[in-house]
Amino acid sequence: MTRKPISFEDLRANVHPIWSKQGMLLTSGDFSAGHFNTMTVGWGSLGVMWRRPFVQVVVRPTRYTHGFMEQYESFTLCAFPEAYRQALQILGTRSGRDGDKIAAAGLTPIASTQVAAPGFAEADLIVECRKMYWQDMDPSHFLDPAIESHYAKKDYHRIYFGEVVAVNGTEAYVGHA
Ligand SMILES: Cc1cc2nc3c(=O)[nH]c(=O)nc-3n(C[C@H](O)[C@H](O)[C@H](O)COP(=O)(O)O)c2cc1C
Repeated sequence: MTRKPISFEDLRANVHPIWSKQGMLLTSGDFSAGHFNTMTVGWGSLGVMWRRPFVQVVVRPTRYTHGFMEQYESFTLCAFPEAYRQALQILGTRSGRDGDKIAAAGLTPIASTQVAAPGFAEADLIVECRKMYWQDMDPSHFLDPAIESHYAKKDYHRIYFGEVVAVNGTEAYVGHA
């Protein structure tokens, strides 16, 4: 996949379909140490916080990825062409605890440009992030009781804010104002 650096100001991403149709890969760890994990995420956001470009991801404590998010300072979010739907399904239904699911999905981890967490060669968009905030979801603040139905096991998400430190994407993600 041919990607090039994109400034946050020039990034044009149709974020709702990216999150909700296929999801993205959230990857945390250290590529050079060979210690990282990835999982599919479908809930999150991309925007501005404290005057910095940021992403928000939510990770249940039951995920293997959660331990990596706690241990490491950086993570990446990667979006993929439609052809990788099955790969994202594998990475969102199997755990890295149980074997090399990245190989099973046929994806290729690659070094990032600014952070230790890897991206993927097959991604059409790679957003490199440095963690800047976390908070555990507080169910007593759910204003719609229906939200609780997402938490039969009471495994409320941990929310992470990541400052976007680099974006690399295909030409389709470059805005031409
Ligand atoms: C489309 C899709 C979206 C998902 N979104 C999230 C999410 O936002 N947060 C989360 O904690 N799990 C989410 N998951 C579930 C994890 O990807 C899944 O439990 C995965 O197997 C965890 O892998 P791990 O144990 O290697 O971390 C999603 C799964 C799919 C298929």
